Amino acid sequence: MNIAPSATPEPCVIVIFGASGDLTQRKLIPALYDLDRQGRLPERLCVLGVSRTAMSDEAFRERMLEGVKKFAASFDKAKWDSFCKRLHYHAGDSISPEIYAGLSKRINELGTQHNILRAGGMPNILFYLSVSPNLYEGIIANIGQAGLVAEGHRWCTVNAEKMPWQRIIIEKPFGTDLRTTISLNQALGRVFEEDATYRIDHYLGKELVQNILVMRFANTFFEPMWNRQYIDHVQVTAAETVGVGSRAANFYDTAGALRDMIQSHLLQVLALVAIEPPSVFDAAAIMREKIKLLNCSPTLSEQAAASAGVFGRYGPTASEPGYLQETGVDASRNTETYAAIKLMFDNWRWAGVPFFLRSGKKMAAKLTEVVVQFKKPPTNMFRHFDSAVADRPANRLIISIAPREGISLRIEGKVPGSGIKLASANLELDYLSAFGGEVIEAYGPLILDAIRGDRTLYKHRDEVEGGWRICEPFLHSPALRTGIDTYTPGSWGPNRADSLIAADAPDRQWHNP
Ligand code: BG6
Repeated sequence: MNIAPSATPEPCVIVIFGASGDLTQRKLIPALYDLDRQGRLPERLCVLGVSRTAMSDEAFRERMLEGVKKFAASFDKAKWDSFCKRLHYHAGDSISPEIYAGLSKRINELGTQHNILRAGGMPNILFYLSVSPNLYEGIIANIGQAGLVAEGHRWCTVNAEKMPWQRIIIEKPFGTDLRTTISLNQALGRVFEEDATYRIDHYLGKELVQNILVMRFANTFFEPMWNRQYIDHVQVTAAETVGVGSRAANFYDTAGALRDMIQSHLLQVLALVAIEPPSVFDAAAIMREKIKLLNCSPTLSEQAAASAGVFGRYGPTASEPGYLQETGVDASRNTETYAAIKLMFDNWRWAGVPFFLRSGKKMAAKLTEVVVQFKKPPTNMFRHFDSAVADRPANRLIISIAPREGISLRIEGKVPGSGIKLASANLELDYLSAFGGEVIEAYGPLILDAIRGDRTLYKHRDEVEGGWRICEPFLHSPALRTGIDTYTPGSWGPNRADSLIAADAPDRQWHNP
């Protein structure tokens, strides 16, 4: 059942589980503060942080202030003084069912204090799971058992719009493979309806990722060429210069680059590049197209995956440890810090066009981008000039997502002067200078969407399960797991990744700026 999103964000209590954690302090509260500073939060909205650490509201605010000062887009003391009154804290172990009676009482008290109560005496509640993934199912079950999610009110036609809603935002990773993801989705489904479930992917909140569909479908000239006839291949890259550091022990060593980045963020970006035009720009239509696309990617055997993937791990330098020397790394897990894979989609538009996805830590540059490599013109009418003219590169469209935000199209032109001499040049669109505005952390707009009931930038359960179906053969391929190359920090990853992209066409190369 699809409920139309409301145009303006509605009053609510945001309950953040994992309130003493890193994500809350670095991302969530600074993002909410920025929204408030820009006047985009509803007046009647408060945040209740929940975690085990004993803390007063005051101490919680102090801790959040540190995060806001460091990570908000800008800081204004007067704005903070008014924003911080919205922040509250409740100490308790979220996996213990006993705390939920107290939590429920506190939510209702805050509902009264901030004048947010709706019909039935409950406020709208947006739960945010910012905890370790192994706690998800327990917390979801506890929320359900505590009666914090009112059942069935959607179907009561009388006063339905006055009834409070309860929604949940859940952070990645959604499971560690297909089986655990199905189990998590079932646990969610026992308590929340699918359309009250917001699986967040912060990449979908990035401006240039959102711009992909606008670019494709609000213009006439991309779409006629956006297919196997004109596109040679597509690359999606998310490279980082930082290593794994202290995240190895609690998370990364059991995840790796494929789970952490490719299965989640990069597949989403790819989906927006490759989906068919949705009938309308709304959550249901876009999700349908994404699911259709993912279903077109053939499930590979583990053997086929081994030749369609390359895994790597950064080595040590004179001054810094390699991945295997990072604290908490268990070498027997064979975790990769770099993964590159090739995917195909068996549909009318993309048959035969490879999509290459890669992501790695400690790479040469921080770079998130999509490269759409076009085919060369069918014939070269300049071939009788010098050989440099005869062999010119094909057009290439680069969608730069981060750190630069923009679009660049490489075209061929005639060099001024007598005779025919060709050279490449770029048509550039710098997003911020063209459209203005302030760069804002992706989390803010995404949370705002959840408060408005808009799931367009969130993931449906079938998308997540489809992503795992595609990625599992790579995860389980013994050849990939044991054949991990060591790459030099500051490089573009293992050399074998160059062979992967060039395997079917020697002139295919990664875009390594
Ligand atoms: C997170 C991953 O989801 O995305 C991190 O868990 C990664 O490992 C981060 O560093 C990258 O995000 P961004 O926005 O900096 O590209």
